[in-house]
Amino acid sequence: MKIFDNIQDFIEYEKGLKGSIGFVPTMGALHNGHLSLIQNSINDNDITIVSIFINPTQFLEGEDLDKYPKRLEADKKICSLAGVDALFIPNTDEIYSKIEPTILAPSQKAYILEGYKRPGHFDGVLRVVLKLLNIVSPTRAYFGKKDAQQLYLIKNMVSSLFLHVEIVACEIVRENDGLALSSRNIYLNQDERQRALKISKSLKIASKAMMKNEFNSQNLKRLMKESIDDLEIEYIEVVDRNFDKIDNIELNNSIILVAAKVGSTRLIDNIWV
Ligand code: PAF
Repeated sequence: MKIFDNIQDFIEYEKGLKGSIGFVPTMGALHNGHLSLIQNSINDNDITIVSIFINPTQFLEGEDLDKYPKRLEADKKICSLAGVDALFIPNTDEIYSKIEPTILAPSQKAYILEGYKRPGHFDGVLRVVLKLLNIVSPTRAYFGKKDAQQLYLIKNMVSSLFLHVEIVACEIVRENDGLALSSRNIYLNQDERQRALKISKSLKIASKAMMKNEFNSQNLKRLMKESIDDLEIEYIEVVDRNFDKIDNIELNNSIILVAAKVGSTRLIDNIWV
């Protein structure tokens, strides 16, 4: 596996590549969720490239930028064992210049839900993803459904800016007990991890209710809320795949989303129905 820590060398390497390129952008601290993105990319493409870049512009003042988990050596091993062809680890000074055009996520979709408590977060995500897509020029790029709003906004950016890349949405990976994998799970102590299970359980409760023909968003949200009311719920919401709130579940076109704090750790989860 080749490793590049500057953009120029990486671009030179890419010039010699033939075939389709799959790209998995990450912020490192890789877990099985990332691994499944990587495996999807390896299955679909001739070459797989992973980037690790903790993007400062998507963290708000006071968020966990400084303590965001860093495990570069372990990440390198994971990528190499998984069969990644190249690991791209650019630094912040190269990615961001002092004077650059402003990229803003569409506010009506980026300042709700995740963006309501984290205004500007998606501006930073789109900024870096656009830069990375331009550097890597992949055939396909892989993103997890767990960050459903991020996935929607990236797809929207790709189609509205006519970028030549296919965005591939990958399934959420969970621990055996249901906890959705996240790099932030390592912040949880034993007790918090146990309490965090209520988030995925609340989504299961919604699924069960739907099996009994309960499709009303308010009713589903109430059931979920009751099951996790001892956590600090940030939102429970039902949206369609365009991230518009809906009164009733539309099958094959809806997402039920939860964000809650367990101790000081903010976790998100969702189901696509
Ligand atoms: O989902 C992530 O890990 C990040 O938001 C991404 C897409 C790598 C951009 O920094």
